[in-house]
Amino acid sequence: AVEGGERVFRLSLTTGQKEFVPGVASATIGVDADYLGPTLEMRRGERVRFHIDNALAEGATVHWHGFELPAAADGGPHQLIRPGTRWSPSFEVRQRASLYWYHSHLHRRAGPQVYAGLAAPIYVRDDEEAALDLPSDYGADDIPLIVQDRALDGSGKLIYPLNMHTRMMGVLGERIFVNGTQNAVFDAQTGQLRLRILNGSNARFYEFSLAEGQAMQLIASDGGLLDRPHTVRSLKLAPGERAQVIVDLTEGRPLSLVATSPDNAMGMMGGQGRGMMGGGMMNRPRDGGETGEVLRILDIRPGRGARARRLPPRLSSLNAPDLSLAVRTRRFVLDMGMMGRGMTINGAAMDMDIVNERVPVGQWEIWEIANASMMAHPFHIHNAQFRVIDRDGRRPPPLETGFKDTVVVNPREQLRVLLRFEEHTDPDLPYMYHCHILEHEDAGMMGQFLVV
Ligand code: C2O
Ligand code: CU
Ligand code: CU
Repeated sequence: AVEGGERVFRLSLTTGQKEFVPGVASATIGVDADYLGPTLEMRRGERVRFHIDNALAEGATVHWHGFELPAAADGGPHQLIRPGTRWSPSFEVRQRASLYWYHSHLHRRAGPQVYAGLAAPIYVRDDEEAALDLPSDYGADDIPLIVQDRALDGSGKLIYPLNMHTRMMGVLGERIFVNGTQNAVFDAQTGQLRLRILNGSNARFYEFSLAEGQAMQLIASDGGLLDRPHTVRSLKLAPGERAQVIVDLTEGRPLSLVATSPDNAMGMMGGQGRGMMGGGMMNRPRDGGETGEVLRILDIRPGRGARARRLPPRLSSLNAPDLSLAVRTRRFVLDMGMMGRGMTINGAAMDMDIVNERVPVGQWEIWEIANASMMAHPFHIHNAQFRVIDRDGRRPPPLETGFKDTVVVNPREQLRVLLRFEEHTDPDLPYMYHCHILEHEDAGMMGQFLVV
Protein backbone atom coordinates (compact mmCIF):
# COMPACT_ATOMS: atom_id res chain seq x y z
CA ALA A 1 0.00 0.00 0.00
CA VAL A 2 1.13 3.55 -0.63
CA GLU A 3 0.10 6.01 2.08
CA GLY A 4 1.22 9.63 2.30
CA GLY A 5 3.92 9.14 -0.32
CA GLU A 6 5.40 6.11 1.42
CA ARG A 7 5.11 2.50 0.41
CA VAL A 8 3.94 0.80 3.57
CA PHE A 9 4.76 -2.76 4.57
CA ARG A 10 3.03 -4.42 7.51
CA LEU A 11 4.94 -7.42 8.76
CA SER A 12 4.63 -9.66 11.74
CA LEU A 13 7.33 -11.80 13.35
CA THR A 14 5.73 -15.02 14.43
CA THR A 15 6.57 -18.47 15.66
CA GLY A 16 5.78 -21.24 13.23
CA GLN A 17 5.96 -24.95 12.58
CA LYS A 18 7.82 -26.41 9.67
CA GLU A 19 8.39 -29.97 8.54
CA PHE A 20 12.01 -30.18 7.43
CA VAL A 21 11.30 -33.85 6.86
CA PRO A 22 7.71 -34.91 6.14
CA GLY A 23 5.66 -35.59 9.23
CA VAL A 24 8.10 -34.09 11.76
CA ALA A 25 7.28 -30.54 12.83
CA SER A 26 9.98 -28.20 14.12
CA ALA A 27 9.54 -24.89 15.91
CA THR A 28 10.55 -22.04 13.60
CA ILE A 29 10.32 -18.27 13.19
CA GLY A 30 8.86 -16.51 10.18
CA VAL A 31 7.80 -13.14 8.89
CA ASP A 32 4.10 -13.45 8.04
CA ALA A 33 4.93 -17.09 7.50
CA ASP A 34 5.92 -20.23 9.35
CA TYR A 35 9.49 -19.94 8.15
CA LEU A 36 11.45 -17.22 6.32
CA GLY A 37 9.27 -14.46 4.89
CA PRO A 38 7.93 -12.68 1.82
CA THR A 39 10.23 -11.20 -0.80
CA LEU A 40 9.86 -7.44 -0.42
CA GLU A 41 9.97 -5.41 -3.63
CA MET A 42 11.04 -1.77 -3.57
CA ARG A 43 11.94 0.86 -6.12
CA ARG A 44 15.00 3.01 -5.92
CA GLY A 45 14.01 6.54 -4.97
CA GLU A 46 10.80 5.71 -3.15
CA ARG A 47 10.18 6.10 0.55
CA VAL A 48 9.27 2.99 2.44
CA ARG A 49 7.78 2.50 5.87
CA PHE A 50 7.46 -0.71 7.83
CA HIS A 51 5.21 -1.64 10.68
CA ILE A 52 6.79 -4.69 12.21
CA ASP A 53 4.95 -6.41 15.03
CA ASN A 54 6.93 -8.75 17.19
CA ALA A 55 4.59 -11.59 18.07
CA LEU A 56 7.46 -13.74 19.31
CA ALA A 57 8.04 -14.53 22.98
CA GLU A 58 11.50 -12.99 22.69
CA GLY A 59 13.02 -9.74 21.49
CA ALA A 60 14.14 -9.51 17.86
CA THR A 61 15.48 -7.04 15.34
CA VAL A 62 15.05 -6.74 11.58
CA HIS A 63 18.10 -5.48 9.71
CA TRP A 64 18.03 -4.31 6.07
CA HIS A 65 21.24 -5.89 4.83
CA GLY A 66 22.98 -3.84 2.14
CA PHE A 67 20.95 -0.65 2.56
CA GLU A 68 22.16 2.89 3.12
CA LEU A 69 19.75 4.36 5.63
CA PRO A 70 19.54 6.31 8.89
CA ALA A 71 21.09 4.44 11.83
CA ALA A 72 17.74 4.51 13.63
CA ALA A 73 16.20 2.51 10.75
CA ASP A 74 19.10 0.06 10.31
CA GLY A 75 17.65 -2.72 12.43
CA GLY A 76 20.91 -3.57 14.14
CA PRO A 77 21.26 -4.65 17.75
CA HIS A 78 20.22 -1.21 19.07
CA GLN A 79 16.81 -1.36 17.37
CA LEU A 80 15.43 -4.04 19.63
CA ILE A 81 11.76 -4.88 19.09
CA ARG A 82 10.50 -6.18 22.40
CA PRO A 83 7.88 -8.94 22.43
CA GLY A 84 4.41 -7.55 21.80
CA THR A 85 5.65 -4.23 20.45
CA ARG A 86 5.85 -2.64 17.01
CA TRP A 87 8.81 -1.06 15.23
CA SER A 88 8.02 1.44 12.44
CA PRO A 89 11.18 2.58 10.65
CA SER A 90 11.10 4.51 7.40
CA PHE A 91 13.74 5.47 4.88
CA GLU A 92 14.34 6.37 1.29
CA VAL A 93 15.51 3.52 -0.93
CA ARG A 94 18.87 4.73 -2.22
CA GLN A 95 20.23 1.41 -3.35
CA ARG A 96 20.97 0.35 -6.87
CA ALA A 97 18.73 -2.40 -8.16
CA SER A 98 19.83 -5.74 -6.74
CA LEU A 99 19.06 -8.56 -4.36
CA TYR A 100 19.29 -7.55 -0.72
CA TRP A 101 17.86 -9.22 2.35
CA TYR A 102 16.42 -8.66 5.78
CA HIS A 103 17.25 -10.73 8.81
CA SER A 104 17.54 -10.79 12.57
CA HIS A 105 20.45 -8.91 14.12
CA LEU A 106 19.63 -9.54 17.75
CA HIS A 107 22.62 -8.94 20.01
CA ARG A 108 24.34 -12.30 20.64
CA ARG A 109 21.36 -14.14 19.12
CA ALA A 110 21.41 -13.38 15.41
CA GLY A 111 22.66 -16.92 14.77
CA PRO A 112 19.76 -18.82 16.32
CA GLN A 113 17.10 -16.39 15.06
CA VAL A 114 18.25 -16.41 11.44
CA TYR A 115 18.67 -20.17 11.65
CA ALA A 116 15.10 -20.56 12.92
CA GLY A 117 13.86 -18.59 9.91
CA LEU A 118 14.06 -14.85 10.51
CA ALA A 119 15.45 -13.96 7.08
CA ALA A 120 14.05 -13.19 3.62
CA PRO A 121 14.99 -11.52 0.31
CA ILE A 122 14.51 -7.96 -0.89
CA TYR A 123 14.38 -6.97 -4.56
CA VAL A 124 15.25 -3.39 -5.34
CA ARG A 125 14.37 -2.30 -8.88
CA ASP A 126 15.51 0.83 -10.68
CA ASP A 127 15.26 2.55 -14.05
CA GLU A 128 18.82 1.80 -15.10
CA GLU A 129 18.17 -1.89 -14.86
CA ALA A 130 14.61 -1.73 -16.21
CA ALA A 131 16.00 -0.19 -19.41
CA LEU A 132 17.99 -3.36 -20.08
CA ASP A 133 16.57 -6.49 -21.64
CA LEU A 134 17.19 -8.79 -18.67
CA PRO A 135 14.91 -11.49 -17.27
CA SER A 136 12.97 -9.70 -14.53
CA ASP A 137 9.61 -11.40 -14.19
CA TYR A 138 9.58 -12.44 -10.55
CA GLY A 139 8.89 -16.13 -10.10
CA ALA A 140 8.88 -16.77 -13.84
CA ASP A 141 12.33 -16.01 -15.25
CA ASP A 142 13.80 -14.21 -12.23
CA ILE A 143 13.92 -16.15 -8.98
CA PRO A 144 15.59 -15.71 -5.60
CA LEU A 145 17.46 -18.67 -4.12
CA ILE A 146 18.15 -18.45 -0.39
CA VAL A 147 20.62 -21.21 0.20
CA GLN A 148 20.79 -22.49 3.77
CA ASP A 149 22.11 -25.59 5.45
CA ARG A 150 20.30 -27.04 8.42
CA ALA A 151 21.02 -29.73 10.99
CA LEU A 152 18.29 -32.15 12.00
CA ASP A 153 18.36 -34.59 14.90
CA GLY A 154 17.70 -38.32 14.54
CA SER A 155 13.96 -37.76 14.55
CA GLY A 156 14.12 -35.09 11.85
CA LYS A 157 13.67 -32.07 14.12
CA LEU A 158 15.61 -28.88 13.46
CA ILE A 159 18.46 -28.39 15.91
CA TYR A 160 20.84 -25.50 16.46
CA PRO A 161 23.87 -27.33 17.82
CA LEU A 162 25.81 -24.62 19.62
CA ASN A 163 28.84 -25.92 21.49
CA MET A 164 32.51 -25.15 21.88
CA HIS A 165 33.29 -26.49 18.44
CA THR A 166 30.47 -24.76 16.55
CA ARG A 167 31.05 -21.47 18.35
CA MET A 168 34.45 -21.57 16.71
CA MET A 169 33.64 -23.14 13.32
CA GLY A 170 30.09 -21.86 12.97
CA VAL A 171 26.98 -24.02 12.88
CA LEU A 172 26.86 -26.23 9.79
CA GLY A 173 24.02 -28.52 8.76
CA GLU A 174 24.25 -31.53 6.49
CA ARG A 175 21.04 -30.78 4.58
CA ILE A 176 20.66 -28.01 2.05
CA PHE A 177 17.45 -26.01 1.71
CA VAL A 178 16.61 -23.48 -0.97
CA ASN A 179 13.86 -21.08 0.01
CA GLY A 180 13.09 -23.59 2.74
CA THR A 181 12.81 -26.56 0.36
CA GLN A 182 15.10 -29.55 0.13
CA ASN A 183 15.81 -30.96 -3.35
CA ALA A 184 14.17 -27.94 -4.95
CA VAL A 185 13.01 -28.15 -8.57
CA PHE A 186 12.07 -25.25 -10.83
CA ASP A 187 10.00 -25.61 -13.99
CA ALA A 188 11.30 -22.96 -16.34
CA GLN A 189 9.20 -21.56 -19.16
CA THR A 190 11.81 -19.34 -20.72
CA GLY A 191 15.11 -19.67 -22.53
CA GLN A 192 17.02 -17.71 -19.92
CA LEU A 193 16.62 -17.91 -16.20
CA ARG A 194 17.98 -15.34 -13.79
CA LEU A 195 19.03 -16.79 -10.46
CA ARG A 196 19.54 -14.38 -7.59
CA ILE A 197 21.55 -16.42 -5.14
CA LEU A 198 21.84 -15.46 -1.48
CA ASN A 199 24.07 -17.42 0.81
CA GLY A 200 21.77 -17.19 3.81
CA SER A 201 23.60 -19.88 5.75
CA ASN A 202 25.01 -19.14 9.18
CA ALA A 203 28.51 -20.37 8.42
CA ARG A 204 28.76 -22.51 5.29
CA PHE A 205 30.69 -21.31 2.26
CA TYR A 206 29.60 -22.56 -1.17
CA GLU A 207 31.14 -22.85 -4.58
CA PHE A 208 28.24 -23.07 -7.03
CA SER A 209 28.37 -24.50 -10.52
CA LEU A 210 26.20 -26.29 -13.06
CA ALA A 211 26.57 -30.05 -12.74
CA GLU A 212 27.92 -30.58 -16.24
CA GLY A 213 30.22 -27.62 -16.11
CA GLN A 214 28.15 -25.35 -18.36
CA ALA A 215 28.90 -21.66 -18.27
CA MET A 216 26.80 -19.12 -16.41
CA GLN A 217 26.69 -15.41 -17.06
CA LEU A 218 27.46 -13.49 -13.88
CA ILE A 219 25.65 -10.16 -14.03
CA ALA A 220 25.47 -8.74 -10.51
CA SER A 221 27.15 -8.70 -7.11
CA ASP A 222 25.73 -7.63 -3.71
CA GLY A 223 25.09 -4.06 -4.78
CA GLY A 224 23.80 -4.52 -8.32
CA LEU A 225 24.89 -4.92 -11.91
CA LEU A 226 28.50 -5.43 -12.93
CA ASP A 227 29.95 -3.59 -15.91
CA ARG A 228 29.10 -6.46 -18.25
CA PRO A 229 28.16 -10.14 -18.10
CA HIS A 230 31.14 -12.25 -17.04
CA THR A 231 31.26 -15.88 -18.13
CA VAL A 232 31.91 -18.07 -15.09
CA ARG A 233 31.84 -21.80 -14.47
CA SER A 234 31.79 -21.52 -10.71
CA LEU A 235 30.92 -18.96 -8.15
CA LYS A 236 32.00 -18.71 -4.53
CA LEU A 237 29.67 -17.15 -1.99
CA ALA A 238 30.28 -16.82 1.74
CA PRO A 239 27.49 -16.16 4.26
CA GLY A 240 25.78 -12.84 3.53
CA GLU A 241 27.08 -12.56 -0.05
CA ARG A 242 24.81 -12.50 -3.11
CA ALA A 243 25.28 -12.93 -6.84
CA GLN A 244 23.04 -13.01 -9.88
CA VAL A 245 23.62 -15.31 -12.80
CA ILE A 246 21.78 -16.00 -16.02
CA VAL A 247 21.58 -19.64 -17.04
CA ASP A 248 20.69 -20.70 -20.54
CA LEU A 249 17.99 -23.29 -21.24
CA THR A 250 17.61 -22.88 -24.98
CA GLU A 251 19.15 -26.29 -25.61
CA GLY A 252 16.10 -27.77 -23.92
CA ARG A 253 18.07 -29.93 -21.50
CA PRO A 254 17.61 -29.93 -17.73
CA LEU A 255 20.22 -28.10 -15.69
CA SER A 256 21.31 -28.82 -12.21
CA LEU A 257 22.77 -26.18 -9.93
CA VAL A 258 25.11 -27.83 -7.47
CA ALA A 259 27.71 -26.70 -4.97
CA THR A 260 30.71 -27.92 -3.14
CA SER A 261 31.45 -26.64 0.28
CA PRO A 262 35.03 -25.66 0.85
CA ASP A 263 36.42 -26.40 4.24
CA ASN A 264 36.90 -23.35 6.37
CA ALA A 265 38.45 -25.19 9.26
CA MET A 266 41.71 -26.58 8.11
CA GLY A 267 44.21 -24.26 9.68
CA MET A 268 42.39 -24.51 12.97
CA MET A 269 42.30 -28.24 13.10
CA GLY A 270 45.98 -28.68 12.77
CA GLY A 271 48.57 -29.10 10.18
CA GLN A 272 47.88 -27.97 6.72
CA GLY A 273 48.09 -24.24 7.19
CA ARG A 274 50.29 -23.83 4.16
CA GLY A 275 47.48 -24.98 1.88
CA MET A 276 45.35 -22.12 3.10
CA MET A 277 47.91 -19.57 2.09
CA GLY A 278 47.92 -20.55 -1.52
CA GLY A 279 44.28 -20.86 -2.37
CA GLY A 280 42.63 -19.18 0.53
CA MET A 281 39.48 -20.81 1.75
CA MET A 282 39.03 -23.03 -1.26
CA ASN A 283 41.56 -25.78 -0.64
CA ARG A 284 40.14 -28.85 0.90
CA PRO A 285 36.66 -30.24 0.62
CA ARG A 286 34.80 -30.77 3.87
CA ASP A 287 35.01 -34.51 3.88
CA GLY A 288 38.75 -34.43 3.53
CA GLY A 289 38.66 -36.48 0.34
CA GLU A 290 39.97 -35.59 -3.05
CA THR A 291 36.72 -34.14 -4.19
CA GLY A 292 34.12 -32.46 -2.05
CA GLU A 293 30.66 -33.83 -1.61
CA VAL A 294 28.47 -32.35 -4.30
CA LEU A 295 25.48 -30.65 -2.76
CA ARG A 296 22.31 -30.47 -4.79
CA ILE A 297 20.94 -26.94 -4.85
CA LEU A 298 18.32 -26.66 -7.60
CA ASP A 299 17.18 -28.79 -10.51
CA ILE A 300 15.92 -26.72 -13.42
CA ARG A 301 13.59 -28.29 -15.97
CA PRO A 302 13.29 -26.46 -19.27
CA GLY A 303 9.92 -25.68 -20.76
CA ARG A 304 8.81 -25.50 -24.35
CA GLY A 305 9.18 -22.42 -26.46
CA ALA A 306 12.44 -21.43 -24.87
CA ARG A 307 13.51 -18.58 -27.08
CA ALA A 308 17.07 -17.41 -27.29
CA ARG A 309 17.80 -13.94 -26.03
CA ARG A 310 21.02 -12.05 -26.19
CA LEU A 311 22.24 -10.50 -23.01
CA PRO A 312 23.15 -6.82 -23.27
CA PRO A 313 26.92 -6.60 -23.77
CA ARG A 314 27.15 -3.63 -21.35
CA LEU A 315 25.23 -3.63 -18.10
CA SER A 316 26.41 -0.65 -16.14
CA SER A 317 29.18 1.90 -16.15
CA LEU A 318 31.45 1.16 -13.23
CA ASN A 319 34.58 3.20 -12.86
CA ALA A 320 37.62 1.61 -11.31
CA PRO A 321 37.83 2.57 -7.62
CA ASP A 322 39.76 5.83 -7.43
CA LEU A 323 42.20 5.58 -4.54
CA SER A 324 43.26 9.18 -4.88
CA LEU A 325 39.87 10.15 -3.41
CA ALA A 326 40.66 8.56 -0.05
CA VAL A 327 41.52 10.94 2.76
CA ARG A 328 42.45 8.29 5.31
CA THR A 329 42.91 4.58 5.89
CA ARG A 330 41.36 2.66 8.74
CA ARG A 331 42.62 -0.75 9.70
CA PHE A 332 40.61 -3.68 11.06
CA VAL A 333 42.24 -6.88 12.26
CA LEU A 334 40.02 -9.94 12.64
CA ASP A 335 41.06 -12.53 15.16
CA MET A 336 39.64 -15.57 16.90
CA GLY A 337 42.03 -16.05 19.80
CA MET A 338 42.96 -19.47 21.10
CA MET A 339 40.41 -22.05 19.92
CA GLY A 340 37.95 -19.34 19.02
CA ARG A 341 37.69 -17.97 22.56
CA GLY A 342 38.61 -14.47 21.57
CA MET A 343 36.48 -13.36 18.63
CA THR A 344 37.64 -9.81 18.16
CA ILE A 345 38.19 -6.95 15.77
CA ASN A 346 41.23 -4.82 16.59
CA GLY A 347 41.61 -6.76 19.82
CA ALA A 348 38.16 -5.97 21.17
CA ALA A 349 34.96 -7.98 21.26
CA MET A 350 31.65 -6.27 20.48
CA ASP A 351 30.45 -4.10 23.35
CA MET A 352 27.06 -2.43 22.96
CA ASP A 353 28.30 0.53 25.01
CA ILE A 354 31.50 1.19 23.08
CA VAL A 355 31.70 3.01 19.78
CA ASN A 356 34.82 1.80 18.04
CA GLU A 357 35.05 4.23 15.12
CA ARG A 358 33.79 7.70 14.29
CA VAL A 359 33.61 8.18 10.55
CA PRO A 360 33.17 11.65 9.05
CA VAL A 361 30.30 11.84 6.59
CA GLY A 362 31.07 12.46 2.93
CA GLN A 363 34.75 11.49 2.97
CA TRP A 364 36.24 8.65 1.01
CA GLU A 365 38.16 6.15 3.11
CA ILE A 366 40.15 3.01 2.56
CA TRP A 367 39.29 0.26 5.00
CA GLU A 368 42.09 -2.24 5.28
CA ILE A 369 40.86 -5.53 6.67
CA ALA A 370 43.41 -8.05 7.84
CA ASN A 371 42.71 -11.58 8.96
CA ALA A 372 45.03 -12.77 11.71
CA SER A 373 43.20 -16.06 12.18
CA MET A 374 43.22 -19.40 10.39
CA MET A 375 39.64 -19.24 9.11
CA ALA A 376 38.19 -17.13 6.33
CA HIS A 377 35.72 -14.46 7.51
CA PRO A 378 33.07 -12.70 5.40
CA PHE A 379 33.42 -9.08 6.52
CA HIS A 380 30.22 -7.01 6.28
CA ILE A 381 29.83 -3.25 6.65
CA HIS A 382 26.45 -1.66 7.33
CA ASN A 383 25.13 1.41 5.53
CA ALA A 384 27.52 1.06 2.60
CA GLN A 385 28.15 -0.44 -0.78
CA PHE A 386 31.90 -0.47 -1.18
CA ARG A 387 34.38 -1.34 -3.90
CA VAL A 388 37.13 -3.90 -3.43
CA ILE A 389 40.56 -2.48 -4.25
CA ASP A 390 42.76 -5.52 -3.83
CA ARG A 391 43.64 -8.61 -1.80
CA ASP A 392 47.28 -8.71 -0.79
CA GLY A 393 47.86 -6.45 -3.76
CA ARG A 394 46.07 -8.78 -6.20
CA ARG A 395 43.15 -7.61 -8.33
CA PRO A 396 39.77 -9.02 -7.29
CA PRO A 397 37.81 -11.69 -9.24
CA PRO A 398 34.76 -10.68 -11.39
CA LEU A 399 32.24 -10.89 -8.54
CA GLU A 400 34.28 -8.32 -6.62
CA THR A 401 34.57 -5.82 -9.44
CA GLY A 402 31.13 -4.40 -8.61
CA PHE A 403 29.52 -3.03 -5.47
CA LYS A 404 29.82 -5.20 -2.38
CA ASP A 405 28.68 -5.04 1.22
CA THR A 406 30.15 -8.36 2.34
CA VAL A 407 33.50 -9.73 1.28
CA VAL A 408 35.63 -12.71 2.28
CA VAL A 409 38.95 -12.09 3.96
CA ASN A 410 41.02 -15.23 3.73
CA PRO A 411 43.41 -16.39 6.47
CA ARG A 412 46.49 -14.19 6.78
CA GLU A 413 45.20 -12.03 3.97
CA GLN A 414 44.80 -8.29 3.83
CA LEU A 415 41.99 -6.80 1.80
CA ARG A 416 41.34 -3.16 0.99
CA VAL A 417 38.01 -1.55 0.17
CA LEU A 418 37.07 2.00 -0.80
CA LEU A 419 33.94 3.51 0.69
CA ARG A 420 32.12 6.67 1.67
CA PHE A 421 29.06 7.39 3.79
CA GLU A 422 27.16 10.02 1.90
CA GLU A 423 24.60 11.10 4.48
CA HIS A 424 22.65 9.97 7.57
CA THR A 425 24.77 11.29 10.39
CA ASP A 426 23.76 10.43 13.92
CA PRO A 427 25.73 11.48 17.00
CA ASP A 428 24.56 8.54 19.12
CA LEU A 429 23.34 5.59 17.12
CA PRO A 430 26.04 3.42 15.56
CA TYR A 431 26.15 1.03 12.61
CA MET A 432 27.91 -2.33 12.70
CA TYR A 433 30.76 -3.99 10.89
CA HIS A 434 31.24 -7.67 11.54
CA CYS A 435 31.98 -11.17 10.42
CA HIS A 436 28.87 -12.64 8.75
CA ILE A 437 29.52 -16.11 10.12
CA LEU A 438 26.70 -15.58 12.57
CA GLU A 439 28.28 -17.55 15.40
CA HIS A 440 31.36 -15.34 15.10
CA GLU A 441 29.21 -12.22 15.10
CA ASP A 442 27.34 -13.46 18.17
CA ALA A 443 30.62 -14.27 19.89
CA GLY A 444 31.92 -10.74 19.44
CA MET A 445 33.58 -10.39 16.04
CA MET A 446 31.72 -7.14 15.49
CA GLY A 447 32.35 -3.45 16.05
CA GLN A 448 30.39 -0.22 15.94
CA PHE A 449 30.87 3.02 14.04
CA LEU A 450 29.16 6.37 14.08
CA VAL A 451 28.77 8.45 10.96
CA VAL A 452 29.32 12.02 12.14
CU1 C2O B 1 23.51 -9.20 7.22
CU2 C2O B 1 25.02 -6.84 10.11
O1 C2O B 1 24.19 -8.13 8.81
CU1 CU C 1 24.00 -5.57 7.12
CU1 CU D 1 34.24 -15.11 11.16
